[in-house]
Amino acid sequence: MRAARYYDRNDIRVEDIPEPTLLPGTVAVDVGWCGICGTDLHEFLEGPIFIPPSGCPHPISGESAPVVIGHEFSGTITALGDGVSDLSVGENVVVEPYIIADGVDTGPGQDYQLSQDMNFIGLGGRGGGLAEKIVVQRRWVHPVGDIPLDQAALIEPLSVGHHAYVRSGARAGQVAIIGGAGPIGLLTAAVLKAEGLTVYISELSDARKQMAHSTGVADEVLDPRDGDVAARVRALTGGAGADVGFECSSVPVVLDMLLDAVRPGAVIVNVSIWGHKPEVDMPKLVLKEIDLRGTIGYSNDHPATIALVQSGKVDLAPFITGRITLDGLVSDGYDQLIHHNEQHVKIIVDPHA
Ligand SMILES: NC(=O)c1ccc[n+]([C@@H]2O[C@H](COP(=O)([O-])OP(=O)(O)OC[C@H]3O[C@@H](n4cnc5c(N)ncnc54)[C@H](O)[C@@H]3O)[C@@H](O)[C@H]2O)c1
Ligand SMILES: [Zn+2]
Repeated sequence: MRAARYYDRNDIRVEDIPEPTLLPGTVAVDVGWCGICGTDLHEFLEGPIFIPPSGCPHPISGESAPVVIGHEFSGTITALGDGVSDLSVGENVVVEPYIIADGVDTGPGQDYQLSQDMNFIGLGGRGGGLAEKIVVQRRWVHPVGDIPLDQAALIEPLSVGHHAYVRSGARAGQVAIIGGAGPIGLLTAAVLKAEGLTVYISELSDARKQMAHSTGVADEVLDPRDGDVAARVRALTGGAGADVGFECSSVPVVLDMLLDAVRPGAVIVNVSIWGHKPEVDMPKLVLKEIDLRGTIGYSNDHPATIALVQSGKVDLAPFITGRITLDGLVSDGYDQLIHHNEQHVKIIVDPHA
């Protein structure tokens, strides 16, 4: 089958590799669509980061580069391994792309995203979405019903937004301020809006501001070039400040803005994976008793995330801004996102084309 494999920084090759083998307890999936994520770009430009370098196998997958890439994907079940009886061939699904040790409990309420040596399918080994086929453990497969496969490829980043929402403890009727309207900020906004919050979002790029407006995920879109965003948020909340903040830009001034924009006692969820250590205005955090929290990936967020899309509370279609073939991965995908990131939200790849 054809697959895109990461060898090293700036070295991704589309090549023919053997098809994966169906084992007991696994599910074979024919990939429908796979999204390109900012993490993939970091691996391409600055990696390997999550990807185990050649000769340094990952402790759980036992694999190292070259590995198949792509962790945001949907597909159709083509075969079920022995012991899998609660899914059907022909069913459309998404994969929660974790590599987690077999002994770790991934049941409800378990924080398995925090388990030792956690990595991701499509980065740390075990195949990936940028291939025609993949075989995965049953526990990572989530049926999507009649959600179209192209939109279902965005369930993974939407689940990141859902987990950030869960981490925030936000409730319907509260006010959120999000810093950065990239894919993660926009999809976090979509979850918050669907859950009944008032959502303000701060962004510089015209195309992304437009996307936040046209999709209806934000009640107000604020541009820092038009004035003090925190002051606007406080004015919009009758002087109080927002109940929750979400850092989705990895830009220090955005974190500063959030510390100013939230009310005393608020929660700020830091979603960004920072490439450098930012300064944090600790006196502000102390004097307002702000809870600054991390969030990574998802844990049991996929069913609720899928339900938001199935119920129509989140429409993923407008966030797809490009469709490409596997051969165009670097030229039409990575290059577009590296040089014109602000024009795009999600570019999705058809690995069969
Ligand atoms: N925690 C997790 O599990 C998880 C998962 C996926 C991605 N991430 C991280 O989330 C972050 C966001 O990802 P993304 O793909 O949306 O990134 P992105 O770079 O596409 O989006 C960031 C946005 O911030 C905007 N921005 C920059 N400066 C700004 C400013 N001063 N004011 C307002 N907006 C500003 C940019 O214009 C851009 O649209 C990244 O750090 C990524 O690594 C975290
Ligand atoms: Zn991703």
